[in-house]
Amino acid sequence: MSEAVLSVKNLSKTFYKDGVKTEAVKNVSFELLSGEVLGIAGESGSGKSTLSRLCMGLLRPDTGEIDICGERLGKKSIKELRPKIQMVFQNPADTFNPSYSVGAGLSEAGRCLGLEKSACKEKISSLLGLTGLSESVLLRRPKELSGGQLQRLAIVRALLCEPRVLIADEAVSSLDVSVSANIINLLKDLRESLGIAILFISHDLAVIGNISDRAGVMYKGELIELGKTEEVLSSPKTEYTRRLLSARL
Ligand SMILES: Nc1ncnc2c1ncn2[C@@H]1O[C@H](COP(=O)(O)OP(=O)(O)OP(=O)(O)O)[C@@H](O)[C@H]1O
Ligand SMILES: [Mg+2]
Repeated sequence: MSEAVLSVKNLSKTFYKDGVKTEAVKNVSFELLSGEVLGIAGESGSGKSTLSRLCMGLLRPDTGEIDICGERLGKKSIKELRPKIQMVFQNPADTFNPSYSVGAGLSEAGRCLGLEKSACKEKISSLLGLTGLSESVLLRRPKELSGGQLQRLAIVRALLCEPRVLIADEAVSSLDVSVSANIINLLKDLRESLGIAILFISHDLAVIGNISDRAGVMYKGELIELGKTEEVLSSPKTEYTRRLLSARL
């Protein structure tokens, strides 16, 4: 059996804001195996982004444990573990500095990761090839690129440090249908060629069905469904998943 590259046990996070208590993530447990794509679906506010931010060490859990490639987050700092786990977001334009060329942005990301300049250049070139972009895009500023090109570049940046886990939080939700399908195919190819595991988060179960080996559904902070994708889609265990499925038909 494959090893778990991300393991989450009994994870919980509650927010208190303006006197309102929100249990954003409630006692969530799952494993993401090496080279696996695990899709997490759920309606807006169900806790998907909070879960991904907890896994990335951007938020501290109230309770629970997170192991990244067998190392406990907390015992090891997120700075030490960060090269193993990376993330792409919904709006790639927001994650590139508008004042600089995207090439300069990628070089800066490589520098922060401690990559030597020429090694970083080579890495960027090979990742551009893998993601189907030409070197000429590097000279452009974010506003001169399409959403699909920017999302490919965000994926290049995330892969610079050769992570074992990629979290894609609504990474195709802002793109139109054909561009979204291209990015999904790219993620599938990267899983094949690099063996990277992907935690693929989307409100859209149809998209999850297209890319994931296993699928989970979050509802009000809880992971209420988790199984092989075809089983979750064909015979869901919960009424909520049935409703989520029929909502897309
Ligand atoms: N920093 C915060 N402070 C207070 N409440 C928060 C904070 N972050 C998230 N929440 C609340 O936690 C709940 C879960 O939010 P989260 O962003 O994780 O949902 P989501 O499933 O990603 O939604 P969407 O599909 O809209 O992205 C929501 O009710 C949200 O308002
Ligand atoms: Mg979200």
